[in-house]
Amino acid sequence: MKILVIGSGGREHALAYKLAASTQVAEVLVAPGNAGTAFEPKCRNVEVAADDLPALLALAQQEQIALTVVGPEVPLSLGVVDAFSAAGLRIFGPTQAAAQIEASKAFTKGFLERHQIPTAGYAVFIDVKEACAYVAERGAPIVVKADGLAAGKGVVVAMTVAEAQAAIREMLSGALLGNAGARVVIEDFLEGEEASFIVVAGANQSYVPMASAQDHKRIGDGDTGPNTGGMGAYSPAPVVTAEVHARACREVIEPTLAGMAAEGRPFQGFLYAGLMIDKTGAPFVIEFNARMGDPETQPILMRLESDLVTLLNAALDGTLAQHPPQWSSDATCGVVMAAEHYPATPAKGDVIEGLDADLGPDAKVFHAGTVLKDGQAITAGGRVLCVVGKGTDIRAAQAAAYAGVKKISWRGEFHRSDIGWRAIARLP
Ligand code: AMP
Ligand code: GLY
Repeated sequence: MKILVIGSGGREHALAYKLAASTQVAEVLVAPGNAGTAFEPKCRNVEVAADDLPALLALAQQEQIALTVVGPEVPLSLGVVDAFSAAGLRIFGPTQAAAQIEASKAFTKGFLERHQIPTAGYAVFIDVKEACAYVAERGAPIVVKADGLAAGKGVVVAMTVAEAQAAIREMLSGALLGNAGARVVIEDFLEGEEASFIVVAGANQSYVPMASAQDHKRIGDGDTGPNTGGMGAYSPAPVVTAEVHARACREVIEPTLAGMAAEGRPFQGFLYAGLMIDKTGAPFVIEFNARMGDPETQPILMRLESDLVTLLNAALDGTLAQHPPQWSSDATCGVVMAAEHYPATPAKGDVIEGLDADLGPDAKVFHAGTVLKDGQAITAGGRVLCVVGKGTDIRAAQAAAYAGVKKISWRGEFHRSDIGWRAIARLP
């Protein structure tokens, strides 16, 4: 069969790689893909933008695609799943109505409240003065979030009231984010350790968890500096103990799937819960995403031993219980190599050197912001590559990843040097 992957990032490269590894698959088309998917065996890039719904639909029909997998949130929030389903095509992802769980923070906070799912206290504002007064009364640290999709740039964790108020002014004036900032959500600051808890959600509220992961969102070593889309991730996340895992399923995932169904938005697809785990092991929802995480997908899928096509088909057919995913006991660590001036104004157009180096069986380079030009991989976005290493523990996985990173370079490249540090600190 032929598969279509929608998107062009590191997550989509990892999805395409894993789908292509299935013996059931003849070819994986990636729309539009990147230089990494262009070179991946059994994969083919097609020049169709991830948000061009009519062109994606025409492509799937022409190529007789058996299953489409959606990477990023934008086509989901535009209703790509609704459009494909209406045309009788098989597609894995949430409908437009279900994707609201990511597209609107205000919807999600209300949803969590309606279903008594643990999350930080909050208030929603459209007026600058009222928002600033609320922050002054509540005190810092406090968190200011733009409503709507803001590609990871819409959140300010403010350590002072003045910082929070500056963020409110910027977001509500529209100067920073345009329309996404027309409403702000102000949240109480949660303390604890974060984890990315992603499940494959199928028909009739069935689901299976993926391996746990932890993302490093801050730009600097030691998790300092501004937030980014993610500078690296690793799997498993030791903070997700067996007990935390059980609580996340029971207290977050199950009521969420039940609540979405009860509200007429049954959720099918990858459901990503960004959790804060407090000292007692209690999970709180920071955010939901209606898709896999990026870069979490890269280390998570490097540990998947079973067939991803079988898993996603089982979800659509409501037979997940018969096809549980099998995970390697190895740890994986993914290091993002970023372009100069990421995340503000990433440089583009630099030639990447060293991609033909042999990284051995314990490392794999996933491309994100790259394009193929005259046979060369050129930088084309902020997060350019994610190098994933595998090993018997997180220390070995980290070493394998950085050994790969060392062999690759371009002008202005930078990366964090401590991906996985929280897990390494927990090793005996
Ligand atoms: P979000 O886009 O909502 O995931 O927020 C981005 C990052 O900001 C999260 O990964 C957290 O590190 C941080 N953050 C968001 N909300 C809170 C909160 N209520 N308390 C503490 N940190 C938060
Ligand atoms: N790495 C965080 C995300 O995908 O939203």
